[in-house]
Amino acid sequence: MPLTPVLSRYWDDPESWTLDTYRRHDGYDALATALQMAPDEVISTVKDAGLRGRGGAGFPTGMKWSFIPQGDGKPHYLVVNADESEPGTCKDIPLMLATPHALVEGVIIAAYAIRSSHAFIYLRGEVVPVLRRLQAAVAEAYAAGYLGKNILGSGYDLELIVHAGAGAYICGEETALLDSLEGRRGQPRLRPPFPAVAGLYACPTVVNNVESIASVPPIIRNGVEWFRSMGSEKSPGFTLYSLSGHVTKPGQYEAPLGITLRELLEYAGGVRAGHKLKFWTPGGSSTPMFTDAHLDVPLDYEGVGAAGSMLGTKALQIFDETTCVVRAVLRWTEFYAHESCGKCTPCREGTYWLVQILRRLEQGGGNETDVEKLLDISDSIFGKSFCALGDGAASPILSSIKYFRDEYLAHFERDGCPFDPQLATLFA
Ligand code: NAI
Ligand code: SF4
Repeated sequence: MPLTPVLSRYWDDPESWTLDTYRRHDGYDALATALQMAPDEVISTVKDAGLRGRGGAGFPTGMKWSFIPQGDGKPHYLVVNADESEPGTCKDIPLMLATPHALVEGVIIAAYAIRSSHAFIYLRGEVVPVLRRLQAAVAEAYAAGYLGKNILGSGYDLELIVHAGAGAYICGEETALLDSLEGRRGQPRLRPPFPAVAGLYACPTVVNNVESIASVPPIIRNGVEWFRSMGSEKSPGFTLYSLSGHVTKPGQYEAPLGITLRELLEYAGGVRAGHKLKFWTPGGSSTPMFTDAHLDVPLDYEGVGAAGSMLGTKALQIFDETTCVVRAVLRWTEFYAHESCGKCTPCREGTYWLVQILRRLEQGGGNETDVEKLLDISDSIFGKSFCALGDGAASPILSSIKYFRDEYLAHFERDGCPFDPQLATLFA
């Protein structure tokens, strides 16, 4: 399957982030087209294209827009979730750094479609260069008449605010993000009601991922048939895959949904020289891991789902045979325990105990019941936590024990990590 650079096609241009460069690549043409259409026509175009949310869940974007009630007399809001934090995920940040105007143009079109006059981009606070670049792009767009009052003489007004969060993974969960944007501590809200009904300031709100929104202008520009000519019936279009870890050329690869890891590895120069694939994640650490037996799984929502995992953020983290799976899972679990917001007991307490047991195994103090304890605690978290973070924390443990139970047992039998005899002393 060939690569299909659409969003990434001029990331390597000098000063790719400026308005001039963006305009040289047909930038803001789609906005002019969209403003000639009725808002509902824009929604049906995105619906017909079948664009699915690129933040992880794959919810149909046009359908989400169509949930916004019309004529309700309330303000409507568009919020872009730019709080990319899933381990291994690095697609939205490069996109915003290289082509911030692709996002800004998408925001204006999406906000017009849902009849919103205020939009927000909620960005991770730590990525200051991206914040500056977005702010500069928004200022350029205001100066050029793409934002503010009477955009391109259409009578449509939009204010766009770039907001930097304070660096909590949980604020990528859409309702925690909304709480944070309102100035409160970011913790998930009970859903339903979904944000489309009661979101920011309890008003109808669309929360969309950066890549989803940036994919809208190319759809308006090139049409539904063009978009559907890539990918599959249920997972159409192109998308950004991030390859990291033990791979020769890590980075972002834009390809149709349904490409396989085997094909992507050919573009990325394969697993690093002299080594072979041991395990990998299809969509970041929150998605059940795969092994070398899954190299030909189509990387779309249906293919990955049928093979027992989730496409998630399409963050393909590659690990070769030198990696201790218990150690990798320990690092991820430490992350989830640190980022657990503490609102619900299964996740708050469970992630703490998972870390204790995994650390003990790595240090050589494990016992024969540890694997069962890990499974038991994970079972108490998975499907029983308040938000998706709990499921994400349990997934690497459940899937790694499924594929590598012997490696867990070897930690107990050999009084420590079989991959690194020195490791036990590191934790002492
Ligand atoms: P979800 O499936 O519950 O919801 C997806 C979207 O559809 C949400 O915007 C939700 O409001 C909307 N929705 C679902 N049902 C609806 C309904 N009946 N009416 C109106 N709207 C509805 O998934 P969730 O919990 O929002 O996200 C989980 C995903 O996030 C995971 O699959 C994971 O891959 C991804 N994730 C991404 C991260 C990143 O850094 N990009 C970080 C962590 C997780
Ligand atoms: Fe907070 Fe974890 Fe519960 Fe989500 S699952 S609400 S992050 S404690």
